[in-house]
Amino acid sequence: MDFFPLIQTRRSVRLYQDTPIEPEKLQKILEAANLAPSAGNLQGYEIYVITRLEQRHGLVKAALGQEFLAQAPVDLIFCANPARSAVKYSKRGRELYCVQDATIACTFAMLAAQELGLSTVWVGAFQEEPVRQAASIPPELIPVAILPVGYAAESPKSRPRRKLEDLVHS
Ligand SMILES: Cc1cc2nc3c(=O)[nH]c(=O)nc-3n(C[C@H](O)[C@H](O)[C@H](O)COP(=O)(O)O)c2cc1C
Repeated sequence: MDFFPLIQTRRSVRLYQDTPIEPEKLQKILEAANLAPSAGNLQGYEIYVITRLEQRHGLVKAALGQEFLAQAPVDLIFCANPARSAVKYSKRGRELYCVQDATIACTFAMLAAQELGLSTVWVGAFQEEPVRQAASIPPELIPVAILPVGYAAESPKSRPRRKLEDLVHS
């Protein structure tokens, strides 16, 4: 799909089919994330690929009962890795760049999934420690976003956006 139709048709999907994701598609999504820009090209993030049902249920609990995290066949957890960014950028790297790196990588993954006919929703409402426990993430990493990926079982309408005049300033 061309880029503009791609971003115009993307929706947050919160209902998924039982169908597994083809491994080649998952690979492409991860490769797309790996192409994201990052501060100093340090790539201050890690991606956890969660497919085991038991772990996905753990994520549901950690994320205020958002059931679609267990419904989607794969959850990708994007974690900031402060130590990687701090090597070159100290406090700003530790506190800001690694979080930005993780979120840009997640965005690339989200758009790649859309291009491949898959759906996602960005999940930010969760408790960090239970997410770490469910996915065996070490304490030095900060889970920033969870991205369930799967085939949609709903077709949500587009959500409204602010007017450009309201959010663009000159
Ligand atoms: C930082 C962030 C956190 C979000 N957290 C959640 C979440 O925890 N659960 C959820 O269902 N959607 C979550 N969303 C998705 C938004 O609700 C959604 O993107 C927004 O309503 C616009 O809808 P659209 O993505 O279909 O355009 C989050 C989005 C972002 C960017």
